Amino acid sequence: MAQYDVIVIGAGPGGYVAAIRCAQLGLKTACVEGRDTLGGTCLNVGCIPSKAMLHASHQLHEAEHNFEKMGLKGAAPKVDWKQMLAYKDDVVATNTKGVEFLFKKNKIDWIKGWAQVPEAGKVKVGDDIHEAKNIIVATGSEASSIPGVEIDEKVVVSSTGALELPKIPKKLVVIGAGVIGLELGSVYARLGTEVTVVEFLDQITPGMDAEVQKTLQRVLKKQGLNFVMGAAVQSVEAMKTKAKVTYKLRKDDSEATVDADVVLVATGRKPFTDGLGLEALGVELSPRGQIRTDGHWQTNVPGIYAIGDVIDGPMLAHKAEDEGMACAEVIAGKAGHVNYDVIPGVIYTTPEVATVGKTEQQLKEEGRAYKVGKFPFMGNGRAKAVFQGEGFVKLLVDAETDRILGCHIIGPSAGDLIHEICVGMEFGASAEDIALTCHAHPTFSEAVREAALACGDGAIHV
Ligand code: FAD
Ligand code: NAI
Repeated sequence: MAQYDVIVIGAGPGGYVAAIRCAQLGLKTACVEGRDTLGGTCLNVGCIPSKAMLHASHQLHEAEHNFEKMGLKGAAPKVDWKQMLAYKDDVVATNTKGVEFLFKKNKIDWIKGWAQVPEAGKVKVGDDIHEAKNIIVATGSEASSIPGVEIDEKVVVSSTGALELPKIPKKLVVIGAGVIGLELGSVYARLGTEVTVVEFLDQITPGMDAEVQKTLQRVLKKQGLNFVMGAAVQSVEAMKTKAKVTYKLRKDDSEATVDADVVLVATGRKPFTDGLGLEALGVELSPRGQIRTDGHWQTNVPGIYAIGDVIDGPMLAHKAEDEGMACAEVIAGKAGHVNYDVIPGVIYTTPEVATVGKTEQQLKEEGRAYKVGKFPFMGNGRAKAVFQGEGFVKLLVDAETDRILGCHIIGPSAGDLIHEICVGMEFGASAEDIALTCHAHPTFSEAVREAALACGDGAIHV
C-alpha cells in the first residue's frame, strides 16, 4: 500500500479542493469517495443541478411573461420534462468529470469506496488499509427530517428526490421556507405546479435581513408561491401517489391539512459521519453531530482534520472550499486562514438574494451605532430594462468610521454584485471608498455604488 502525506475522505467542494491544494503544495495525496462520481453533494445533487433547473425554469418564465413585451411573439415553449432532466444531468456530468480531470492533472489518487478510520494515520477502504501522515475528514452532510415525517424519495422527498421527480407534480408542499425550499419551490412554481410552503417561523429565510425577508416573500407570492407561516408540521401521511400534510398554527394551536402529490422536506441538513468510526477513535463531536475542530481544523486527535459541512459554520460550498485550501496550507506548514466574518450567502431565486456581514438586527442587538445606505433597483436603468426593478441594495456602515459592516441585496445578479462588498470588507473599505470608485454604466453594479453614496451626501437616482 502506498504511504500518503494526506488522505482526504470525501470529494465534495471541501474535500476535492483540499486534495488539489495539498497536491499543489507537493504533498502525496489521495482522496476517498464512496459515490460513483466526484464533486460531493454540491456537484451531484446540490448547487449545480439546482442551478441548472433554476436556469431552465427561469427561461420558461421569461418566455411566458416577458418575451411578448419585448416584441418577441410566438407560442410559449412547452416543457419536455425528460429533456430538462437530461440537460441537468449533463451539466452535472460535465462538472464531475471536470473534477476527475483535475485529480489526474494533479496526480491525486482517487480511492473508490467508503472509508473508515481505524486509527490515526490509517484509512480502511474495503479490505485495504492505506497509510497517511494526515487525514482530512470532509464527509459533508445529509438532509434531516422532522419528527412524524419520513422521507421515501418518492412522495415525500428531500432535495435529492425533488431534483429527479418522474413528472412535474400538480401540487407540491414544501416544508421549510429556507434556501432549498425557496429555490426548488421557485423551480416548480415556474413549471406550473401549485406550490405551498409551510414554515414554522413567522418569516422566511431565518437569520436574513428583515427587509430582504419581507421583499422576497412578497415577490415570491406574486410569482405564485403560497405561504403558510407560523405553522408546525405535525405529520405527513404518505399514500402511493399522494400525501396529506397536517400542521398546527402556532398562534392559536388550530390544526389544518393540505394535500400534495409530492412533499419536499427542506428543514435543514445535518453532518454526515456514519461509518467512519470516529466515536471509537475518540474524535469529539458537538451535540449536533458536528466534528469539533480547533482554529486550524484539527480535531482533538492529532493528525485528523475536518472541514466543510461536517464541522461548525454555514453549510455552503464556498465555505467548505475555503476551509479545504486553508487546511491543506496548514498541513503543508503554511499559514492557512479563513475569514468567517466575510462569507457571502446567496439565494438563487429571481430576484437573487445576497448577503454578507452583519444584519441590521444584529447591529441593534450589539448596540453598535451604524448608518444605512439603501438604493432601489427601480432607480437602476439596466434593472428596469430587464424587468427586474424590484429589490434594493442595503449597505450598513459604522456611524463614525464609515467602514462597511454588512450588505444585503435583493435584485438582479445579487450573487455577483455582493463580491465587490466582500473585497471591500476584506480591505477594511468605507462606504466612501465604494462611492468614489467609478462604476460602468449601465450595470447593476451602479446600484451598489448608489447605496454607498446614500451613506454619505446621498444617492443620485432617487
Ligand atoms: P459534500 O459536498 O456533502 O461532500 C461530501 C462527500 O463525502 C460526498 O460525496 C460523500 O459521498 C462523501 N463521503 C461521505 N462519507 C464518506 C466515507 N466514509 N467515505 C468516502 N466518502 C464519503 N451551497 C452553496 O454554497 N451554494 C449553493 O447554491 C448550494 N445549493 C445547494 C442545493 C442543494 C439542493 C443542497 C442539498 C445543498 C446546496 N448547497 C449549496 C450546500 C453545499 O452543497 C454544501 O455546503 C457542500 O456540498 C458541502 O461540501 P462538503 O465538501 O463539506 O461536503
Ligand atoms: P434552512 O436551514 O435554510 O431552512 C430550513 C427551514 O425549515 C427554516 O426556515 C426553518 O425554520 C424551517 N423549519 C424547520 N422545522 C420546521 C417544521 N417542523 N415545520 C416547518 N418549517 C420548519 O435549510 P434547507 O433549506 O434545508 O437547506 C439546508 C442547507 O443547504 C442550508 O444550510 C444551506 O446553507 C444549504 N443550501 C444553500 C443554498 C445556497 O447557498 N443557495 C441552496 C440550498 C441549500
